[in-house]
This record gives sequence, structure tokens and C-alpha cells, in this order.
Amino acid sequence: MVINLKQNKNFKLFKLVSAVAQQNNQSVYIVGGFVRDLLMKRQMPTDIDFVTESSGIYLAKKIAQEINPKLKVSVFKTYGTAMFKHNGLDLEFVGARKESYSEDSRKPSVETGTLEDDQKRRDFTINALAISLNKENFGELIDPFDGISDLQNKIIRTPLEPLQTYSDDPLRMMRAIRFAATLNFQIEENSLEAIKKEAERIKIVSMERIMVEFNKIMLSEKPSVGLKLMEQTGLLPLIIPELTALKGIEEVEGQTHKDNFWHTLEVVDNISKNTDNLWLRWAALLHDIGKAPTKKFDKKNGWTFHGHEFLGSKMVKNLFYRLKLPLGSDMKYVQKLVKLSSRPIALIDDGTSDSALRRLLFDSGEDLEDLFTLCKADITTKNSSKQEKFKKNFEYVAQKIKEVEEKDSIRNFQPPISGEEIMEMFNLQPSREIGILKEKVKEAILEGEITNDKEEARSFVIEEAKLLGLKIN
Ligand code: CTP
Repeated sequence: MVINLKQNKNFKLFKLVSAVAQQNNQSVYIVGGFVRDLLMKRQMPTDIDFVTESSGIYLAKKIAQEINPKLKVSVFKTYGTAMFKHNGLDLEFVGARKESYSEDSRKPSVETGTLEDDQKRRDFTINALAISLNKENFGELIDPFDGISDLQNKIIRTPLEPLQTYSDDPLRMMRAIRFAATLNFQIEENSLEAIKKEAERIKIVSMERIMVEFNKIMLSEKPSVGLKLMEQTGLLPLIIPELTALKGIEEVEGQTHKDNFWHTLEVVDNISKNTDNLWLRWAALLHDIGKAPTKKFDKKNGWTFHGHEFLGSKMVKNLFYRLKLPLGSDMKYVQKLVKLSSRPIALIDDGTSDSALRRLLFDSGEDLEDLFTLCKADITTKNSSKQEKFKKNFEYVAQKIKEVEEKDSIRNFQPPISGEEIMEMFNLQPSREIGILKEKVKEAILEGEITNDKEEARSFVIEEAKLLGLKIN
């Protein structure tokens, strides 16, 4: 089969690569994700991989020289690869390799090979497709493992015996699931079995690489597809055991609780319909992790998970640390949402007093909408009249909050009176009393004793200061 590259945006580049390779008596092919996505008519590429049956580094340098002698080429000698940027694309050149991997590392030892050797050692048949850029068969698809059928039938299959492919590079287990989840493909049966057998070997892969794949699963249209595959193959309990600990339904004295693992997957799918914010999706994934360690049964209350939001938000930090996820504002955002995840529901149950609404506004600040998005996604009941009721309740709370917000401007709460002003009023040096007075002002506003107004705050501080034995200046 010959692929018509003339229509391709990169046709000029392909012609140039072809000509330079020929001048240097080198063969050259496009391989990997670019070919797969081209055949699937998918998205704009960000990188193109080229293979030559001799030195990739030499070819990269020659091509870069031809494009622009000043182009900077990055060379990775150990891997026999070189890359440079051109027209916003990463162009990577590699010498065809036969590879063998050692038992305890992903780092391959490299030996020169033919194109077919190189295709064989790739992860999946759909990623092992090559297009020739050689003059004699320019545009010809070279597909020794019938990747084209797998593309058509939507199948993830390895070119070699699956155990060999996954054991060579265990990250491919995550990649298989990621491709299945993002492309809506099926992992072929023997492959799935091999992943189950080899799952433990994921431990030799760096957490950063695992998370790159995991986050692609989290950003897919329906993340539960990938998460279920991870659970089914045994990868999920090795990577995030806190999640699989939520699995199962216990029964005591005829009382059961819901399976919080499957519930969580539903919440993640629900939220993914409404947001592409990765960290909001993570908040959905982790919103119930505190439930396994707080689960209790007693005769009076049945099953309870007291304080699970608080414990869950504490667990987020350790989890992010272990998973090598960012520990700054993204982590704090997830912690905050996990901690507040039951508050709007509790508001409905306990009554929507203005002070409770103000407190929620204060605690959630600019993330209030996201908290609501999470809470709505958390409604997974299959009972449609209950669904309706929950949704109505939410609209009611949202409306009430809007009213309070308009009145009291709590959302981006700035204290109406500053520490410096209090120091000046009572001729104080920085001291404990100032902190106490500031806190009292905040509490009085949230409780509705005073409004968020400077003059009211001043009078309030004067009264409170008297109780502390302070005299006005
Ligand atoms: N590859 C592999 N094993 C890996 C990673 C990559 O065999 N663990 C091969 C595949 O042939 C893949 C190519 O290297 O197509 C390029 O890898 P990469 O750029 O990471 O992924 P893509 O397949 O291009 O897919 P995407 O861009 O969606 O990540």
C-alpha cells in the first residue's frame, strides 16, 4: 500500500529528508505514532520519528545542516538518537536497533539492526507501522505485523510474544491501557493475560513515567475505561492501593454500604463530562479515599465514615508525594476539594443558615464552582426521583450562596480591618492580641454578627479590645 504524502503538511520536509538520506546512502522511514495518527486521521502531530538502518545521529545532523546550519541538534549517544525542532515539531532520528533489555531496568543495550528488527522491538503493531521515504518506494507502507488490520479492528496487539514485549519494557503495560482508553481500542486477550502476569514489573519503572500515562488516562473521555483495566490487570493496587481499598460491600446485620470504588469511577466519568481540568478530575478520583480507613459499623448508626473528608485530604499529600505529582498549588487544590466534598450536601441536611453558607464561601473561595461541579458528579444514584431531588437541592443551595455572596462579599474575603490598623488603634507592638482580634472580626462576619464593613469592624474591635483590657489610643 502506498500512502499519498503529497497532501501532508510536512511533505516538503519528507522530500528533504528523503533527498539528504539518499545523498548519504542511508535508508530512512517515518515510524511510530505519527504513522498511526496519520492513518487514523487523528489530531495534529507534535513529533515525528524517523528510522534509518545506519546512524540516526549522523542523518539528523546532515538534515539539520540542510535546513539551517545554526539549528541545535540534541544528541543522545547511549540511545543512538538525535533530535531537533523544526516548524514546531520535534523531529527525532534513530538508527534501527535490535534491543535486549536487562531484567531490572528499562534501559536497553543497543545493537544495530534492520528496519524489521526495529519494528519488532516496538510496543504495539499499530505503533510499528513505517512509511518509506526512500526514492525507490517513497510513501510505501511497511507493515510486517499487519498493524493496519489492528488499526481497523481497533486492537492493541504486540508485534512479538506479549510477555517478551512487556517484560522488555514494563511501561508498555500502562501504554497499552492508555491507548485502549484514549483510542477506544480493545487489548487483545493474550496481551491482557501477559499484563496480569507481568504487573509486578511496573515497579522498575519510574513513577514520573507511570504518571504521564496515568494522567493521559485521566484526561480521556471516559477515564473509568482505563481505570477498570488497571484494576483488572492488577496494576492499580500496585500504584494507588488507597483506591482499590475502597472496593467491596460489607454486610452487618443486614445493612450494607455502597461499593466506594465503583462509585468513585462513576464520579470520575461524570465529572469528565463537565471539565477537562486534570486536577478537578483527580479530586473526583480521591474524594472518598478517606472512607476505607474511617469505615465503622455500630448498631445505632449503621455504617459510618466519620471524618473521611478530613483524613482523605491529609492522605492526598502522601499520595501526591509518592506518585511524584506536583506538591504545590495543584496538590493544595485537590486537598481542599476533598476536604470540602461533603459540605454542600451537609448544608442541605443541616439547613442553609446564612452563617453556614458564608463559611462555605469563605473556605472554598475561588474554587466554589469547582466544588459544585464535584458535588454534582458525586450524585450517582440510579433512582431518578432521588436524582431530581438532589439536583434541585443543589440549585437551591447555589442560589442561596449567590444571595449571601452579593450581600457580604465573602468569597475573596479581605479582613475589613488590618493588623496594622489594630496596632495603631491601641498603640500595640506586634503581639498575640492582634491575631486574636483579627480572628474575632472574621468569626463575627461569618456568624453574621457584623457585616463586612470597616466602620462596623472598628466598633466591634473596640468592644472586644476592652474585654482584653486594651485601651484605645
Ligand atoms: N515506543 C515503544 N515502547 C515505549 C515507548 C515508545 O515501543 N515504551 C515506540 C512506539 O513505536 C511509539 C514510538 O516509540 O510509537 C514513539 O513513542 P512516543 O512518542 O512515546 O509515543 P507515540 O506512539 O508517538 O504516541 P503519543 O504521541 O500518543 O504518546
